[in-house]
Amino acid sequence: MEIFLDTADISLIEKYKDFVDGVTTNPSILSKQGSVDVKDVVLKISKLVDGPISVEVISSDFDGMVTEGENLAKIHSNVCVKLPCTFDGLKACKALSNKGIATNLTLCFSVPQAMMAAKCGATYVSPFIGRIDDIGQDGINLIADIVEVYDVYGFETKVLSASVRNINHFIQAAMAGSDAITLPEKVLEQVFVHPLTDIGLKKFMSDWSKLKGK
Ligand code: G3P
Repeated sequence: MEIFLDTADISLIEKYKDFVDGVTTNPSILSKQGSVDVKDVVLKISKLVDGPISVEVISSDFDGMVTEGENLAKIHSNVCVKLPCTFDGLKACKALSNKGIATNLTLCFSVPQAMMAAKCGATYVSPFIGRIDDIGQDGINLIADIVEVYDVYGFETKVLSASVRNINHFIQAAMAGSDAITLPEKVLEQVFVHPLTDIGLKKFMSDWSKLKGK
């Protein structure tokens, strides 16, 4: 399973660079960094993590998406152009994929969207678990359904679980067979902090120090 960090915060990427396979961003994430030079951010990330860097287009029309996607791809070979699962986004996916440009079809909320993304040659598709949960449905079910359909038809597009809100989403997405996942810091940090690990380590050290004291 590829694990991506869902941030544009360079200091955060520096902290976790040994544990992630790439980085995903979107306009909201980039906006949190204030006035950003996308090219500058991408080049800084590329120096820390040698893996896919997802950057989303701002255009909503086919021509604009293709032009933006081509320009983003020129920044660095690790750039993966993020496109929404709209008519124009899927059409742009096909055009950019045919040019050999990596794509990540984002804001995916249904199996048909994911199927069309695969047929358009998407490198990744990003179903949003948390936002499906937000409307009272089960986001993990969508991951499992897409994984199953992709397996039935032999689609090569990789399922990239997104909008991950807690460690259970991580566990359940992995159990559902998601090829990749993108984690916000609040979830990734939970991988490295478990109360029982801390309690156990404290006990080990305490017992050891008693032995040394004898
Ligand atoms: O990768 C998509 C992610 O950034 C969206 O997360 O919590 O805003 O639904 P969220």
